Amino acid sequence: MSGAIPHCTIDGPSGVGKGTAAKWLATRLGWHLLDSGAMYRVAGIAAEQAGVALEDPEAVAAVVHEMQVRFDGDSASDRIALNGQDITAAVREEGAGMLASRIAVFPEVRDALLDAQRAFLQRPGLVADGRDMGSVVFPDAPLKIFLDASAEERARRRCQQLRQAGMPAILADVLTDIRARDARDRGRKVAPLKAAKDAVVIDTTELPIDAVCERIFSHVQDSGLTAVAS
Ligand code: C5P
Repeated sequence: MSGAIPHCTIDGPSGVGKGTAAKWLATRLGWHLLDSGAMYRVAGIAAEQAGVALEDPEAVAAVVHEMQVRFDGDSASDRIALNGQDITAAVREEGAGMLASRIAVFPEVRDALLDAQRAFLQRPGLVADGRDMGSVVFPDAPLKIFLDASAEERARRRCQQLRQAGMPAILADVLTDIRARDARDRGRKVAPLKAAKDAVVIDTTELPIDAVCERIFSHVQDSGLTAVAS
């Protein structure tokens, strides 16, 4: 499935810093970036806009199959249009994250997004960020990273991020959301959030983001992936 195209997966729970680390790594390597969370967020927004019941897996999956999504720029985290409408700001809101985690529990919805995610695997290489990148979407990835951190630390970081983006954020509310999302992501039957058996696990609770990035980069170098890419 993956051929010889170099790729690295970065999985982990909400607010752990994997988006920042994945973007940094993709930029440093000059590789493509897959922000799979953005895909689930767009799918959640599409289902809500279509007015289907979010508890109905087949109806939601049908919307996902039909939706026209455009990611402008090289990564899924740049401008995002859904059925011709710019939804970039809405995708980043906490509400979209909650919507995403509700529909992500359905295997029909996960299957509907699989091909679109795998299509990102192109030369010169790919950094794929999400929950099941190493365990399900790219099981043959030569390097799998799993980032973890305490819920409290992740809530603190997420609050800071939201405030920097000019959005209001209350720590207690963000922590409640993160715990709810963790429970759903870790507890679901299909593709639950957990480290792949062959993943390198990094606990980032005490690590600043630049140290996390450097540590991931040294794993990339040790794995020989940069030699394959050049
Ligand atoms: O990473 P992000 O917070 O954008 O993801 C939003 C939600 O989408 C997650 O809480 C999770 O439920 C779902 N998701 C998933 N599998 C992925 C990426 C995201 O189930 N690979």
